[in-house]
Amino acid sequence: MSSNDWEENWKEDEKLKWDPGFDLGYGEIDDEHRIFHGLIVDFQEAAIQHASKEKLLGILHEITEYAEFHFSSEEKIMAACQYTELDEHAALHHTLLAEARDAYTQFQQDEIDPAHLYEFLLNWFATHTSKEDKKLVQYINQERVTTRHSSKQVAAGAPTLRHGGR
Ligand SMILES: [Fe+2]
Ligand SMILES: [Fe+2]
Repeated sequence: MSSNDWEENWKEDEKLKWDPGFDLGYGEIDDEHRIFHGLIVDFQEAAIQHASKEKLLGILHEITEYAEFHFSSEEKIMAACQYTELDEHAALHHTLLAEARDAYTQFQQDEIDPAHLYEFLLNWFATHTSKEDKKLVQYINQERVTTRHSSKQVAAGAPTLRHGGR
């Protein structure tokens, strides 16, 4: 694998930005997604800056740990609002974590380069968030479910970042 192959195609304006489409309208979930997304940005920036493999593996480990915390957090919200698709959604979380751990091993063994790993991470985060998590938030909003989490709902565009579980 030649590092030049991917470096040449990676331009400054391709740096990952927050997509407003990721704001789903439920404060606690949106706040955690911003932290999650921030870690993927950290990975991309470190890769562009030619950080060491150890540094990239460290960020990847952090992403996996945060994913574990975030998935568990969403599962608690789903249980609290008796989400009808809890089991299916939790099974997807389980698969996503397994995929992240596989990606970690592949990167450790030089079977994937940083740019492809970054692409994987972005799709991995974006697809689940914009599809499955969106369905969950729509359910919460449509059913107007009142849970103990509801007080944490915030006005769109004004999320308060926090670092949970770490
Ligand atoms: Fe999520
Ligand atoms: Fe989820």
